[in-house]
Amino acid sequence: MSFPPPSPRSALLHFVRLTQTVTCSSCRAGAIWNRHISQDITRHSMTRKPVTPLDIEVWTPSRLTVTKTTSPKELPSSKSLIFGQTFVVSTINLSPSATMLHYAQSLFEGMKAYRHADGTVTLFRPEMNMKRMNTSAQRLVLPTFDGNALIECIKVLTTIDRKWIPKEPGHSLYIRPTLIATNSALVIAPPKEALLFVIACPVGPYYPQGFKPVSLHGTTEYIRAAPGGIGGYKLAANYGPCVVAQKHAANQGYAQNLWLQGPGHWLTEAGTMNLFVVIKDRGGVSELITPPLDGMILPGVTRDSVLALARNHVSGVKRLQGLPDAIKVSERPVNMGEIIQSSKEGRLVELFGTGTAAVITPVDRIGYNGGDVIIPTGEDGMGSISRTLWTELVGIQTGVIKSDWNYVVAK
Ligand SMILES: Cc1ncc(COP(=O)(O)O)c(C=O)c1O
Repeated sequence: MSFPPPSPRSALLHFVRLTQTVTCSSCRAGAIWNRHISQDITRHSMTRKPVTPLDIEVWTPSRLTVTKTTSPKELPSSKSLIFGQTFVVSTINLSPSATMLHYAQSLFEGMKAYRHADGTVTLFRPEMNMKRMNTSAQRLVLPTFDGNALIECIKVLTTIDRKWIPKEPGHSLYIRPTLIATNSALVIAPPKEALLFVIACPVGPYYPQGFKPVSLHGTTEYIRAAPGGIGGYKLAANYGPCVVAQKHAANQGYAQNLWLQGPGHWLTEAGTMNLFVVIKDRGGVSELITPPLDGMILPGVTRDSVLALARNHVSGVKRLQGLPDAIKVSERPVNMGEIIQSSKEGRLVELFGTGTAAVITPVDRIGYNGGDVIIPTGEDGMGSISRTLWTELVGIQTGVIKSDWNYVVAK
């Protein structure tokens, strides 16, 4: 794998892949930054003088050049795959003083390429990942870019590497676009140089032995996000500090942690998943609730998809057998007080997490205030509402159900 030499005020755009490197020819063309972000949002941290942030210019896929590796790696056996551990990539050159290493000027996305039974390869709603990645870039004052152009580049990458998408059911290729500040300067300011790269790794099903509900420890000792903070963005800085809370939960015998916000102990996210809860009102009508996107919650692609499926059911656009005829769909705050009360009154129906990795993860108990709140799950580990939504979503992703959410990469 080779990299064009970095030049000041130029963006490096690399697609680090399993067997080859796809390099955008724009990088070689030099000045590919534009000035799109308004100047007044960025000032130099020391001098307070305005600094002009830089955007990656729109490039066209026709300007893309593909450089294949001369030493392709062996395909791993699908049985040996552990999520996120089977990367076979080359290293990148990074100065020890690169700002991303010191000031966490780093962000990423997570998406998957699925192989359908007829061999078609698709991405699931990739434009949402691109939108979120650009939002993250703006928050960090890293360069933004044309999401459609990056999707085209990912399409090229996935097509060339399609043999790395395992053929076994439930397998996929996890794709990780990443954007980091690479300029070598101990300065807290918009970076003069950034690297956008995409890595990929083949992954197996999250639940090879069937669904296994997880337990959550209600975390009140640490916070993941605060108003005005970065919880709503997919920044690297959001993840490292969460390990301690995860470890704390594990030490007490829970699989993951549940982020509880503020003195009211409002439910926000479960580990690195969005959260849904189903509660019946006293008249017996079910409500599917997820906390609102208030800046502290990551706008998950799976969260948005679950909401859309449920709302389509309610409006009659597409009824889903398995969902109650009358179900209310709400984006509203829900706290531990409401969870406990509904549990005591037998109205707590289901609670589950959503995310690209596992799609839907059922929860069977929450450790809180020294006790456990028990959440009902179906006999096979999943309640009927989450199972219906999971079946529909996975059906779409694997091509069993036709949907315009699938972006065809290769036929
Ligand atoms: C903190 C956090 N919340 C939620 C999600 C779920 O988002 P998505 O459905 O886009 O994978 C993720 C995973 O990306 C995450 O890291």
